[in-house]
Amino acid sequence: MQTVQDAAGLRATIRGWRGQSQTVGFVPTMGNLHEGHHSLIKLARARADRVVASVFVNPTQFGPGEDFERYPRTLAQDQAGLAEIECDLLFAPDVATIYPFGAEQSVRVHVTGITDTLEGAHRPGHFDGVATVVCKLFNLVQPDVAVFGQKDFQQLKVIERMVRDLALPLKVVGASTLRADDGLALSSRNQYLSADERALAPQIHQTLLKMRELLEKGHARKVIEQVAASTLERAGFAPDYAVIRRAEDLSEPGDDERQGLVALIAARLGNTRLIDNLPFD
Ligand code: PAJ
Repeated sequence: MQTVQDAAGLRATIRGWRGQSQTVGFVPTMGNLHEGHHSLIKLARARADRVVASVFVNPTQFGPGEDFERYPRTLAQDQAGLAEIECDLLFAPDVATIYPFGAEQSVRVHVTGITDTLEGAHRPGHFDGVATVVCKLFNLVQPDVAVFGQKDFQQLKVIERMVRDLALPLKVVGASTLRADDGLALSSRNQYLSADERALAPQIHQTLLKMRELLEKGHARKVIEQVAASTLERAGFAPDYAVIRRAEDLSEPGDDERQGLVALIAARLGNTRLIDNLPFD
């Protein structure tokens, strides 16, 4: 596997593939890769002739006081893992390559509506940073297919909207969430957890399952959301939200709606903020 850090090197390799009429799949990441990321690469490999992964810890999607500085950077390990699963190219740019004009970049991508709620409400500016960097990475790589995890459900929806509304010439594919045996969704942030916190963390997934069960039994959505939040609080979490929304646009469903729903949780455990979700269909 080849690793390139600059846009010219990236474009040269991809131009070579394009010359042979090969299609390109792309998986953007922030590195510290785990099996969840690898499952995205494998899905991209099934959808395209060549697979590009990027590793870039994007400063513009972190808010003040968030974990940008301490976010785990493990490039050598990531490279070895990607080579093993036969990723074709790793793009690992530095900040100056992606933001050569620094904070003065004049154009930012803001996806309206769907970014006002949940993660968007709790992390102001987060999705502008995500949409802008992903749009830029799409322009650099020019993939036919890009794969995103459902683990970050709202992010996947934001990217789908951006691609739709800007008529970007690629297909977005969503991949299901990979979990540890005890149900905890794999995440680079799990390693911030102490042993005690790690033992508690699967309760997020258990709560999502409980929310689904209660909805199936006919309980009212608002009651289920309150039960979920108080269950998490009692277990030692500080939940930002525990809600049931329409999967399509994350708006609030009507009282009798049962189709096309998703439960989503964000909760802090000590200094670590965890998110997870469960689509009901
Ligand atoms: P990162 O958190 O590194 O995640 C990269 C991709 O891996 C995302 O599409 C995410 O949803 C997916 N992913 C993470 N954990 C997963 C799991 N357990 N199972 C399946 N997929 C999983 O998301 C980002 O980076 C950034 O916001 C990015 C899109 C790269 C823009 O900077």
